[in-house]
Amino acid sequence: MRKILIGNWKMQLSVRESVALARALRAGVKKAKTTIVLCPSFPAIPAVRDALRGGAFALGAQDLFWETKGQYTGEVSGAALRELGCSFVIVGHSERRAHLGETDEMVNKKVSAALAARLTPILCVGETREERERGTRDAALRRQVHVALRGLTPAQIGKVIVAYEPVWVIGSGKAVPPKDAVRAHGKIRNAVEEVAGAAVKVRVIYGGSVDSNNGAGFLREAAVDGCLVGGASLRAAEFLKLVQVAETVA
Ligand code: PGA
Repeated sequence: MRKILIGNWKMQLSVRESVALARALRAGVKKAKTTIVLCPSFPAIPAVRDALRGGAFALGAQDLFWETKGQYTGEVSGAALRELGCSFVIVGHSERRAHLGETDEMVNKKVSAALAARLTPILCVGETREERERGTRDAALRRQVHVALRGLTPAQIGKVIVAYEPVWVIGSGKAVPPKDAVRAHGKIRNAVEEVAGAAVKVRVIYGGSVDSNNGAGFLREAAVDGCLVGGASLRAAEFLKLVQVAETVA
C-alpha cells in the first residue's frame, strides 16, 4: 500500500527557511511511490511551490476558511489555495481547536469547503489528555468524526484523509505505541462507516511525535496509511529518513 507522509511546518519557519528546507528535501527525493505532502505557512506557499517544482512532493496548506469569498478579513479560501498549487489542506488541527476555538461544526464546514475546492482535506481528530484519562477516547473520536463528516456524500467522504492525533502526544516527543494507534484507527473507521456505509474506505494516518526512530513502527501497520509529522518534518535529514522508511514498507 502506498503510504502518505505529511509534513506540517506549523508557524515554525520564516519564508526563507521554508524555501531552504524545501530545496533540501527536493534534492533528497528524486522519485517516490509515497505520497509526500508539505504544508508550509500561508506566506511561504508560493516560494515553496517553486522550490519543489518537478519533484515528488505535493503541496498542502494548514487551514482554510469555509466561505468562498466575501468580507472575511484575514481568511483564506480553498480556491485561492488551489490557485497557488495546493492539493491538500489540514483541517481541524488540535492547535487551532485549542488556540482559536475551532469547533466540530466549524471543522465540518471546512471539510466541505475543501472538497468543494477540490482539495483533499486532512481531517485531524484526537482525544485530549483529560478524555484519555477519563476513558472517553473512543466517544471523542466518534463525535469528532460524525460531526466533521455531517452532510457529505459517501463519495465525498471517501476522499477525506483522517489523521488520528492524540492531542496530549503532539510535540511531546513521545508517541503512543503503534498498537494504540491501530486501535484508534479501527474506532475511526467504524465511525466513518456509521456515517457513510461500509463501502466507503477512508485513509487514516497517525500524527503525534512521529520521528525517524518510531516511524517504522507506525508505517509497517496495515491500519496506518501514513503519518502526519510536525517537529521531525522541520529537519531535512530526519524527514528524508522517514520518506525512506515509507518507501520500504509500501
Ligand atoms: P509533532 O506534531 O510531530 O511535532 O508531534 C504533529 C502535528 O501536530 O501534526
